[in-house]
Amino acid sequence: MTAGPLLATTREELSAVLGPHRGAGARVALVPTMGALHDGHESLLRLARERVGDGPVVTSIFVNPLQFAPGEDLDRYPRTLDADLEVCRRQGVDVVFAPSVTEVYPDGDPLVTVDPGLLAAELEGESRPGHFRGVLTVVAKLFGLTRPDLAVFGEKDFQQLVLIRRMSRDLCTGVEVIGAPTVREPDGLALSSRNRFLDSEARARAAVLSRALRAAEEHASYGVEAARDAALRVLEGEPGVDVDYLAIRTPELGHLDETGGHEAAAGRILVAARVGGTRLIDNLALVLGGQAHARPPVGDR
Ligand code: PAF
Repeated sequence: MTAGPLLATTREELSAVLGPHRGAGARVALVPTMGALHDGHESLLRLARERVGDGPVVTSIFVNPLQFAPGEDLDRYPRTLDADLEVCRRQGVDVVFAPSVTEVYPDGDPLVTVDPGLLAAELEGESRPGHFRGVLTVVAKLFGLTRPDLAVFGEKDFQQLVLIRRMSRDLCTGVEVIGAPTVREPDGLALSSRNRFLDSEARARAAVLSRALRAAEEHASYGVEAARDAALRVLEGEPGVDVDYLAIRTPELGHLDETGGHEAAAGRILVAARVGGTRLIDNLALVLGGQAHARPPVGDR
């Protein structure tokens, strides 16, 4: 049995455990999480280990109040530290940083926060105002406290990944931001800590999100409209699913020119929906056909 990770709960402890690694010139990898670790997180930890070699892998476990709006699920967000430590042991994590709220925000809500820019008001940001300000602020703090060379985030939260990458570049943090592919259940449902809130009926329905994305992928060669329509048909065919948004954007989440050029273009389809009271999100890369006027065969619409 391998020794478990070192657990640091204060800034001083974190800096003390990382000191010797830094002294030896090791590269440091950080995997920020809110805990309730599942197979999706395990894949992030494996990717961090692959990228950092013998250097330390640090994971933070912190349910960040700043990214939850009043009335969101902060209080019922799962907290499972013992099980999380076991996952970290299995994945050879060197250090777990699990601070308290006062350790991260000693003066209460911070006076100065990271402004996430215009993209943060769209998609997820439209129904979760302030969410990305909270995410970027805590990630900036975690970067400052850990001073990693690289940090790994899941593509499942794609808008978050795009914004963190942008923050790292715009604020010159020096941290390489790496995206890890989404891990899925056999029926396609993207793994998420919130999946545990789904009852069995909602769980069966929830796979409709990934089915809709796959339908868009199959129709993407006919252009943006055909891809979006295909996804919508799948979503509308499933009762009890309340779609919040379905959008097709560029890979950096800019708006696409839907008049279409003649070149195939990379895109990203993103969906958010409530299934049995639980809000789920998912996304997929698309290769969009260049001719927007091309349509799928009639029987296939
Ligand atoms: O994706 C998450 O779990 C959180 O948003 C993150 C990046 C750890 C910041 O709290």
